[in-house]
Amino acid sequence: MPKDTLSITDNRTGKIYEVPIKDGAIPAPELRKIKTDPEDFGLMSYDPAFFNTANCRSAITFIDGDKGILEYRGYPIDQLAEHCSFLEVAYLLLNGELPKAQELSAWKHEITTHTLVHENIKQFIDGFQHDAHPMGIFLSTAGALSTFYPEAKNIFSAEVRRQQIIRLIAKVPTIAAYAHRHSMGLHYVMPDNDLSYAGNFLNMMFKMTELKYTPNPVVEKALDVLFILHADHEQNCSASAMRNIGSSHADPYSSLAGAAAALYGPLHGGANEMVLRMLRQIGSMENVPGFITDVKAGKGRLMGFGHRVYKNYDPRAKFLKQMAYSVFEACGRNPLIDIAVELERIALADDYFVSRKLYPNVDFYSGLIYQAIGFPVDMFPVLFAIPRTVGWLAQWEEMLLDPEQKIARPRQIFVGQKRRNVPGFKVKETSATR
Ligand code: ACO
Repeated sequence: MPKDTLSITDNRTGKIYEVPIKDGAIPAPELRKIKTDPEDFGLMSYDPAFFNTANCRSAITFIDGDKGILEYRGYPIDQLAEHCSFLEVAYLLLNGELPKAQELSAWKHEITTHTLVHENIKQFIDGFQHDAHPMGIFLSTAGALSTFYPEAKNIFSAEVRRQQIIRLIAKVPTIAAYAHRHSMGLHYVMPDNDLSYAGNFLNMMFKMTELKYTPNPVVEKALDVLFILHADHEQNCSASAMRNIGSSHADPYSSLAGAAAALYGPLHGGANEMVLRMLRQIGSMENVPGFITDVKAGKGRLMGFGHRVYKNYDPRAKFLKQMAYSVFEACGRNPLIDIAVELERIALADDYFVSRKLYPNVDFYSGLIYQAIGFPVDMFPVLFAIPRTVGWLAQWEEMLLDPEQKIARPRQIFVGQKRRNVPGFKVKETSATR
């Protein structure tokens, strides 16, 4: 008997099937061969929310959730965060290797020279209500870019794909900053090509009447590191949305708008916003034990805790906790950090959280840093979407070039009404109804 197979005995028929095992997985279509008779549809696998289903082979990001390991293209996340810039990491995620010096300067040049948006984009953003959530503005505007670049539909041209990838990475900070400026009733700030990716974003967010905006170097570095930590996270909800939409051969702007919408939800990229609101609601250290008791009683969740994949400390959260204090030195201490640290201390000593392997995730500390820098709370999911654009695009392109991929189309187990007739409908008698 071959070693790498799984023997399945179908007790309905007594037949034994050999299903191949490859890369620790069985190909689900093999199950279709398991039938009670030739007319039978065959066996399916049932896996709501894809708990145990691999949807692709990917060479981009590796996570070992039990050990708390995160690697981009084989490089540990902490090494990348300490030694590389966000644009180097973006190049790595998209191309598989870190750029050489010349490649990096060409890449930086290309991104920097595509940061401007069409003037009509500003009018488009102007059309939103003054109190529109910036994430709603962001995802709609990112999607609207497809109408400015209709050639983007040509997704099987490597050159066209590359052009849209550059445009998207370059323009998402501009759109994000303009979403914020619109909600503040402030003028839109032109990109500054002298600044770094993170520095220019801070310029477009916060420049007022000064002739030249100079970012605080500690904040600029912190934001760059935050961007690296958020750049990709393999097959999460929003990356899967990007792949799913892209699998119908939609253009990358439309696919990315869908991915950003998936990120917006409070169980995904919206969690950092919810963490801040939760910390404010707790209000002081002495309310922490009562809050934990409520969470354990099922009255809400401890936002920023738990992860589908990490059953250990999220390596990004570890990094961010340390970074929070250096940002506070530059920008002033965020008093909510004490509540966060106390929440973590109590939760990690409590059997409810320990037995369920619930640890702080990336969103637990990122919001405190964003707030100390001066970002309003409703910009938090947008701040996540900027770097994640790179991951979405890398996942999208990998999906398009993968010969095993087709339009995503899950099966269902139908549990609804059996066929019946509309009341009063006269059924013509046929051989089938007789
Ligand atoms: N607070 C309290 N209890 C929790 C939490 C939490 N944050 N997360 C999970 N649990 C409990 C559940 O109630 C459940 O308990 P039970 O077994 O007694 O019913 C158990 O832990 C397992 O939880 P699930 O919801 O089944 O786990 P799942 O993998 O589906 O959810 C998720 C993962 C959505 C991240 C969840 O942990 C959560 O809601 N966390 C809070 C929101 C959050 O921080 N999201 C950001 C995730 S990171 C990111 O997207 C960038």
